[in-house]
Amino acid sequence: MISFDENKKILKLDTKNSSYVIGIYDENYILNLYYGAYLPDCNLWGNIKRHKNASFSPANPHIPHEEFSSDVEPMEYSCNGSGDFRISALAIKNADGNSVTDIRYVSHKIYKGKPDLSPLPHVYLNNDAEADTLEILAEDKVTGALVTLYYTAFNDLDVITRSVKVTNGGGNALDIERVFSMCLDLPDMDYDLITLYGRHAKERSREQRPLAHGIQGIASKRGSSSHTQNPFAALLRHGADENQGDAYGFNLVYSGNFEFSAECDFSATTRVIMGINPTDFSWHLEAGESFQSPEAVMVYTNEGLGEMSRIFHRLYINNLVRGKYKYEKRPLLINSWEAAYFDFDTDKLVEFASHAKEFGIDMLVMDDGWFGKRNDDTNSLGDWFVNEEKLEGGLGVLIDRVNALGMKFGIWYEPEMISPDSELFRAHPDWYIHVPNRESSIGRNQYVIDMSREDVRDNIWNQMYSVLSKNKVDYLKWDFNRNISEAGSALLPPERSKEFFHRFVLGTYDLMDRLTKAFPDMLIENCSGGGGRFDAGMLYYSPQIWTSDNTDPIERLSIQFGTSLCYPASTMGAHVSASSRTGYETKGNVALWGTFGYELDPTKLCESDRETVKQQVKDYHKYYDLIHYGDLYRLVDPYFDPYKAVWSFVAPDKSEALVTYVIMREKFCDIQFIRLRGLDKNKFYRNEETGEVYSGALLMNAGINITGKIWRDGESLMLHFTEVKND
Ligand code: GLA
Repeated sequence: MISFDENKKILKLDTKNSSYVIGIYDENYILNLYYGAYLPDCNLWGNIKRHKNASFSPANPHIPHEEFSSDVEPMEYSCNGSGDFRISALAIKNADGNSVTDIRYVSHKIYKGKPDLSPLPHVYLNNDAEADTLEILAEDKVTGALVTLYYTAFNDLDVITRSVKVTNGGGNALDIERVFSMCLDLPDMDYDLITLYGRHAKERSREQRPLAHGIQGIASKRGSSSHTQNPFAALLRHGADENQGDAYGFNLVYSGNFEFSAECDFSATTRVIMGINPTDFSWHLEAGESFQSPEAVMVYTNEGLGEMSRIFHRLYINNLVRGKYKYEKRPLLINSWEAAYFDFDTDKLVEFASHAKEFGIDMLVMDDGWFGKRNDDTNSLGDWFVNEEKLEGGLGVLIDRVNALGMKFGIWYEPEMISPDSELFRAHPDWYIHVPNRESSIGRNQYVIDMSREDVRDNIWNQMYSVLSKNKVDYLKWDFNRNISEAGSALLPPERSKEFFHRFVLGTYDLMDRLTKAFPDMLIENCSGGGGRFDAGMLYYSPQIWTSDNTDPIERLSIQFGTSLCYPASTMGAHVSASSRTGYETKGNVALWGTFGYELDPTKLCESDRETVKQQVKDYHKYYDLIHYGDLYRLVDPYFDPYKAVWSFVAPDKSEALVTYVIMREKFCDIQFIRLRGLDKNKFYRNEETGEVYSGALLMNAGINITGKIWRDGESLMLHFTEVKND
C-alpha cells in the first residue's frame, strides 16, 4: 500500500510489517525519512534538521543556512558533487566534462502492480494485487537528466524492490558514471554488517562485523557476481540475532560486477548503496536514450535474521523463479562429473543410468566432455557438436538408451567460453574478450567469449539449438568457469568501452532468455565453478544453482548456512558424492537441504550404501514439499558453534517439521538438546520415530534430549514431527 500526504508532502510505502517514508522538502529535495517497523502515521519531519551537526558542510543558498545541508540530511538518492560528501548513488558526467549531479523532485505516480524490467531479470508479480508501485520522477535541471526512482512495496511480504532509470532529456550527450539501484540513509550506525565471502569450493561463508566510521562493503569486478563476495548484505541491529530484532537485507538481482557499500559518517548515520560496480563502468547516453539499472530487493523485519531469510525465500520461490519447475517436482538426478570426469562413453553412461535407476533416480546428467574433441579441459569450448568418438552414433543413441531405462537425460554447456584450441576460435579469432595490444590472461585454458555481440550470441545459440532441438534433453547445466580480465569488445567505440561488462551480462541474459523460451520444459541448473554465480539474476532463468564443487558434507554446512541467509533450499544444488569424510547417511541428510541428487559412480557402491541410497531416494520424495516450500529455521549455526549444526524445515501451516542435527566435531559431556522453532505452541506433534507426542510449546521451550543417539564426528540424525489432529 502506498499513499501520498499532500499537506505533509510525504510518500509512505507500507508492507504488512514495515514502512518506508519519503519526504519532499524545500527546493524539491527528496529525503529518506524512515525505513523500519510499520508506522501507522508519518509525522516525521522533526527527524531531519540535522544541520547543526554539520561539519564544514556547504548548503543550498536558497534555504536558510541553519536548516539544511544535503551533506547531513537523509537523502533519498544521493548525488555526486553538490554538497553531499557521503558515497553517491548517482554521478553523471555532462557535456562540460564535470560530474556534478543534483536531482530534485518533479512528480510521482502510484499504481497497482509492478513494471516489467525486461530484458533485466526481476522480481515479478503473480497478480497486480500483490504489490503497489511508486515512481518518482526527478530531474537534474542543468543536464536535463531525468531520473525515475522505482519502488514496489509488497502487501503481504515485507519486501520493497527498487531500481532506477536515467533518461537523457537534454540536448547534449551524457555519461553515467555511477547509477546504484538503491540508496538508504539510516539515522544511526548501531548495526553489524553481514556479508557472504568465499572462494572456489568455499562459497558464501558468513562474515559479520560491526559498522565503523568510514566506508565498508563488498564488490565484484570479476565480470560475474563471483565466489568471492555475493551480492547480498544484511544489517543486524546490535542486540538482534537469529530470532529477534531489526534485520535489513539487501540483494541485487544481477549477475555481473556489483558493489554494496555502507558509509558511517561523522554524525554516526549510515548510508547504504547497492548496484552495478562503478569501477570499469560508464554508460553513454545520447539525447533521448535511457539506462535502466538492475533491481535491488530490500527486506526489513524486527524478527531477526531468520525471518529476514524466510522473507527472501518466500519471495524468490513465488516471485523470482519461473517456469515448469517453479512448483513441479524436479527430477532426482545423478551427474557424471565426479563419477567419470572426462572419461566416459555411451556404454559407461548407460551403465551409470541403469544402476541409478535401481535406486529410483530419475535422470542422468552427462557433464563436461561430450563435445568437440574434449577429453580434458584444454580444448573445444565453443565447438558445441557431439564428439562421436565418445558417443558412438551420436547423442540420440545415448538418449534413447537412457530413456529406454525410464530415465530422463541432461547435458552440460559452458556457452560463454571459448578454448584457443577450438574450431570456433580458429574461425573467429576476434570473438574472445580482449583489448588491443595487450596479451590476454588465460584461465582454465580458456577465454571468455564476447557475449555483448549479437553475432557471437547468434552463433552460440544456433549451435545450441541444433543439438537441443534434435534431441530430447530434459535438463541443462549452464557453467561459467573463469573470470573476465582484459575486458573489451571489438565492436564498442572508445566512448562506450566501459559499457562492456554490463553489455556482457545483458548478452548472457539474452541467451538464457532464448533458451527458456525455446525449451520451456527444460530444467536449467546454473553453475560457475561450483557456486561462483549464485545470484538472484541467475535464478530468474534457472530455478536451481550448483552451490559448490565442495561436496564434503561437513564443509558444505557453512556454505549452505551462508547461502540460506538469502536463497531458499529449492535453489541450492546439493549432491551426495563419494567424498569420504562421513558415511552416506550424513551425506544424504546434508544434501537433502537443497535440490538433492548424486554425483558418484553408482556401480562402486557397497551393498549397505546401496540400501542407504534407496532410503534417501524415498526421503527425497517424502520431504520434497516440506524442504522446497517450507520455512527454514537455522537452529544452531556453525558460524557460532564449531561442534554441531542444526536446522529444520517447518510446513507453512505448521503441521509438520523435519529437524536435522549434524555433529561436526565430537564434544564429550554436553547434553544434546534440540529446541525447535516455528511450531504452533498449541498444536501437538508426534515424533515419527518414537511415537512420542509433545506440544509445540514443549518442543520449542524445553526441547528434546537426544544425548547419546549420535556422538561421533560426522554423524547426523533427522527427526520428523507431524501434527496429531483431534478428530
Ligand atoms: C565446473 C563445475 C563442475 C563441473 C566442471 C566441468 O567446475 O562446477 O560441477 O561441471 O566444471 O568442467
